[in-house]
Amino acid sequence: QRVAILISGGGSNMLALVRDMTGDHPCRPVLVASNDPAAGGLARAAGLGIPTAAVDHKPFGRDREAFEAALSERLEAARPDIICLAGFMRILTPAFIARWEGRMLNIHPSLLPKYRGLHTHARAIEAGDAEHGVSVHEVTAELDGGPVLGQARVPVHPGDTPEVLAARVLEQEHRLYPMVLRRFAIGDRTPIRL
Ligand code: GRF
Repeated sequence: QRVAILISGGGSNMLALVRDMTGDHPCRPVLVASNDPAAGGLARAAGLGIPTAAVDHKPFGRDREAFEAALSERLEAARPDIICLAGFMRILTPAFIARWEGRMLNIHPSLLPKYRGLHTHARAIEAGDAEHGVSVHEVTAELDGGPVLGQARVPVHPGDTPEVLAARVLEQEHRLYPMVLRRFAIGDRTPIRL
């Protein structure tokens, strides 16, 4: 299965996915694309010999459709079977999501359905939660709302800052996402609980 990975930043989740896609894994990475030409993950992907694409969203202003048309041009050329959003920070239009419905995954740093949206670690600390974590889900038109394919939990310790908690969650992201992709790629939708 041909996998395209969309990033906006350092791409640590992208790296975890790419490092796992070797040997008898049913997938291979065919493109790493970013909405930010300065995304560190682009250089990391290029260093691994993976084709990359940078489609800066800023020149398109509020014209989301125009940005997505430019992104889709690069995406379609790579003929992906699966798209993994990995730290991708743009909200996608229903039209784009419909195009990839059932073949697009996202990783979100919370135990969905809790804390959709941003600043999830600060919100979990603020709420006094004893547990937090990460979810991998199928992307649907509902923001951070599609079927959950996997979750990993971490404890919240007293005195945790959002940064410390985010680092604890990120470690689990790197374990969970590759496991979910392996199952998803063979049509297994059994949720993973770590
Ligand atoms: C991480 O905080 C992760 O929770 C979210 O995007 C952020 C950056 O991820 N998905 P990455 O290092 O760019 O993969």
